[in-house]
Amino acid sequence: MTRTLVFGGAFDPPHSQHVEMCKAAMAQLGISRLVIVPTYLPPHKRAGYLDFSARVRLVKAAFKGLDPIVDEIENERGGDNYSCRILPILKRKYGDIVYLIGGDSLMYLDSWYKPEEVVATCPIAVAARSGYGGIADKIEALKGSLGGEYIPIDFVGKDVSSSVLRAELLLCESPADIAYDVMEIIRREGMFTRYADMVDKLRGFETEELFEHSKAVVKRAVDFNSKHHLGQDFDRVFTAALLHDNAKQRRSLDGLDVPEDAVGTPVLHQFLGAAKAARDFGISDDGVLDAIRYHTTAKADMTMLEKLIYTADSLSDDRTYDPIPALRRIAEKDFEEGFRATLAHTVDKLKANGRPIYPLTLDAYDFYIGGQK
Ligand SMILES: [Fe+2]
Ligand SMILES: [Fe+2]
Repeated sequence: MTRTLVFGGAFDPPHSQHVEMCKAAMAQLGISRLVIVPTYLPPHKRAGYLDFSARVRLVKAAFKGLDPIVDEIENERGGDNYSCRILPILKRKYGDIVYLIGGDSLMYLDSWYKPEEVVATCPIAVAARSGYGGIADKIEALKGSLGGEYIPIDFVGKDVSSSVLRAELLLCESPADIAYDVMEIIRREGMFTRYADMVDKLRGFETEELFEHSKAVVKRAVDFNSKHHLGQDFDRVFTAALLHDNAKQRRSLDGLDVPEDAVGTPVLHQFLGAAKAARDFGISDDGVLDAIRYHTTAKADMTMLEKLIYTADSLSDDRTYDPIPALRRIAEKDFEEGFRATLAHTVDKLKANGRPIYPLTLDAYDFYIGGQK
């Protein structure tokens, strides 16, 4: 019987590493038949930007070279699409199947719905992405707790994040990790254009350097959010990060309500930024506005979104000077630790330079770090 490799995902959008992962697994397992299963996203879940049929069109273009069967079972069922339900159906349909997952998914396999039923259905092939250690130990632990057969696939892939690619598309960029044919469909059908006007308007308010920084903060923020499973809504992260510096080069008060003690200081632009994001960009979400309002000073008792924008702004990839790369590495390992290290560094730097420290920053320092000011 022909063995079949099964690979599922949101594919919002599908990218080069999805394809490379399947290629590696098919080569190493000697499998020639591939079934791609796009996940169904219920309309109330806003995780997806594209509807099911749009994702199917992109998947067909992305995987064209591997001649896959794109199985629309999840859309047909319209819900209750746990792997433990879908895999037995696919097994009846295709026979001898192997289910391919990435190393990051393996790390969370215990938390899937009825994982023991998943691993009892078919062997699990695990493509370990570069930078993902501990795969062998995890496999041993899962064998002990759940049973099942696991086949490690040697895959030294690039670290490509679907949410960063989605952000890049929404920022009107053309990411290299999206295949030409896929990009053609995206352009032709006008996919990912939801923020095009906002991006365009912001570009008019910022120098090229600042605009590049704003885009870097967006990418850093959505990356932290997805890598660390911080659970923040993609749109809110995107909007707050994109607009955080919208007033940096528009300093006129325009009668807007800002704290008097911030006027004439570098922190003014955060307060003005929140007011102008509401006025000029129609942002009405208080959580998003607060993330803009406190992105420079921080404050005590911040929301996750506020911490995320604060940290992403301080550690965005356009900042290449010391000690930012080292702080970024800390935050890549542990977000909360990265946030606190960033705050501590900022306060230390202000003190060392004899610069005044805004009261909200001192509050933040007391709240999160404590000890001497
Ligand atoms: Fe700023
Ligand atoms: Fe900034």
